[in-house]
Amino acid sequence: MARPILVFDSGIGGLSVLSEIRQLLPSNDFFYLFDNARLPYGELAEQVLVDGCVELVVAAATKINAALVVIACNTASTLVLPVLRSQLSIPIVGVVPAIKPAASDTLSGHIGLLATPATVKRPYTHELVNKFASHCQVHMFGSSELVMMAEQKMAGVPVDMARLAGILAPIKATSLDVLVLGCTHFPMLADELSQVLGQGIKLLDSGFAIATRVQHLLEGLGEHEHSAPNSMKAWYTTPSLTPGLIQSLTVYGFSEIAPFTP
Ligand code: SIN
Repeated sequence: MARPILVFDSGIGGLSVLSEIRQLLPSNDFFYLFDNARLPYGELAEQVLVDGCVELVVAAATKINAALVVIACNTASTLVLPVLRSQLSIPIVGVVPAIKPAASDTLSGHIGLLATPATVKRPYTHELVNKFASHCQVHMFGSSELVMMAEQKMAGVPVDMARLAGILAPIKATSLDVLVLGCTHFPMLADELSQVLGQGIKLLDSGFAIATRVQHLLEGLGEHEHSAPNSMKAWYTTPSLTPGLIQSLTVYGFSEIAPFTP
């Protein structure tokens, strides 16, 4: 019997990664844990973020005897992976902005990174750019408002397209042709982003690359096959959720949606 996979994010963004993983591993069991009590992570002090994530992830992974953990949050991945790896003896997969493929896809030599203000600032991100995109002009844009827009869309609130156009105006003023979505919330807004930015800007996220990595690791562990129908459970950290969000999570196939305390 394969052990479950724990996918963690601050909010609903990690569902964009979970969907990609499920395409490759449709019969594995998944727990989706989201720390909506502390959302958005892009606004948190570093130590608060690290301590909170580590406490939650270690408790949840231990409780379900997880085979593997995915930190489906760019902001958290830039900080918590070494600490988690020192506390858990299972594979911990983080997300990395798709700077490398963007640098090879661009024709104009201008690429963009749209992420949280924290991810844009982190040395990790700048090392990634120096390593894979030193031949490109890299334009960086940080927004926590987009994180909240994605959350609201998932809770059933229509996206304010005029507000979105205002946030994206600095991107339209550049000549970039590839935009990296360096926050897992942003693929949730892909249709709206394309509508505002136009077809001339290709959007890239790292969901598929993460899913492939998870599949490879689980095959190595012999935990990729599961004979029973798969189960999907969601855990959150606030006392309750709005009915709109519960409805959206149900559409994703979660049979249990419950609060979690470590
Ligand atoms: C946030 O909670 O600020 C966004 C998380 C991410 O970077 O994916």
